[in-house]
Amino acid sequence: MSNTNVQIFDTTLRDGEQVPGCKLNTEQKIIIAEQLDLLGVDIIEAGFPVSSPGDFKSVEAISKIVKNATVCGLTRSVENDIKVAAEALKHAKTPRIHTGIGTSDSHIKFKFNSNKDAIIDRAVKAVSYAKSFVEDVEFYAEDAGRTDNEYLARVCEAVIKAGATVLNIPDTTGYCLPSEYGAKIKYLKENVKGIEKAVLSCHCHNDLGLATANSIEGVINGARQIECTINGIGERAGNTALEEVVMILKQHPYLNLDTNIKTEMLYGLSQLVSDSMGIYTQPNKAIVGANAFAHSSGIHQDGVIKNRETYEIIDPKDVGVTESAIVLTARSGRAALAYRAKNVGYELTKLQLDEIYVNFLDFADKKKEVNDDDIHTIIENSRLYKEIISA
Ligand code: KIV
Ligand code: ZN
Repeated sequence: MSNTNVQIFDTTLRDGEQVPGCKLNTEQKIIIAEQLDLLGVDIIEAGFPVSSPGDFKSVEAISKIVKNATVCGLTRSVENDIKVAAEALKHAKTPRIHTGIGTSDSHIKFKFNSNKDAIIDRAVKAVSYAKSFVEDVEFYAEDAGRTDNEYLARVCEAVIKAGATVLNIPDTTGYCLPSEYGAKIKYLKENVKGIEKAVLSCHCHNDLGLATANSIEGVINGARQIECTINGIGERAGNTALEEVVMILKQHPYLNLDTNIKTEMLYGLSQLVSDSMGIYTQPNKAIVGANAFAHSSGIHQDGVIKNRETYEIIDPKDVGVTESAIVLTARSGRAALAYRAKNVGYELTKLQLDEIYVNFLDFADKKKEVNDDDIHTIIENSRLYKEIISA
């Protein structure tokens, strides 16, 4: 892995699947895992094997079929979790165990009724035990976002010594500001002894709508893995959206950070995950929403028809969307009407367009969106119809 490469760790099938009511069966998970592998994700977190027999079966089945990506299973810092995960992952070409424990004051006090030293002890034991099964062990410091940096650095140093290859720094509650999260990663890079032996990973939740921004700040400050899900699905307000971080890095080449993702597959995967889980994607969702490449105001439509780049920073084909959409509404101008009329076979002169546009506005005021059939109706009912079709 070069120093400019950011590893994409997909957790759609683990953190993503924690969305209430969106449980997938093993067959659906296998189909998604195959597509994620083709998409080029570096790591697929396939599930939490000890959590249920179904999850164990899915992680085992995914381990068997994935060809390129590392397959990862989640555990707590509990011996049996780790043993069960190792068993579920035993057929994977490159298995990874993801173990960890809460490190914030609130987790230490309320979840574990414990103290800072005892937590480090448990973390080290978990990593050492996981290491007895697999080479690649990722450690998560749950609620790292609200953990003080000095203690977090002590935890990281201890688990690196125990053999952790990746350090996951989750903003579990989605609390951090981008500047804070970036500073946390920078602090760990500069203050953890042995940090060069491990990859720092961003795992950001979206409770304040900052998951994507925080992950990007994380990699700008030295992290080299982002944990994310397709469509940003996940616990509560969700996780970092894979399609967003990947396209941000692609569209900002001066950051000198890249991924192995085949971006033309993004839209298809978004649809697959949304259909399989029965979660509809908001139309204004960045990159993959139905309106992400749709233009409806007259000013924008006129610009896009003249040159797509006036109002689009991404070529829709780069993410698997066939073309930008010019949506006809009462806010549309003549340029959009002429463009759409031409697409359905009518080449209008300037004078014809002026007259048809008046009819169009009258129609559009009564309807939210004017479709191709409506364009035919408007033109067929106009007094210019014969003249238009005889041209
Ligand atoms: O958000 C979180 O802290 C997690 C960990 C279990 C990695 O999902
Ligand atoms: Zn999470």
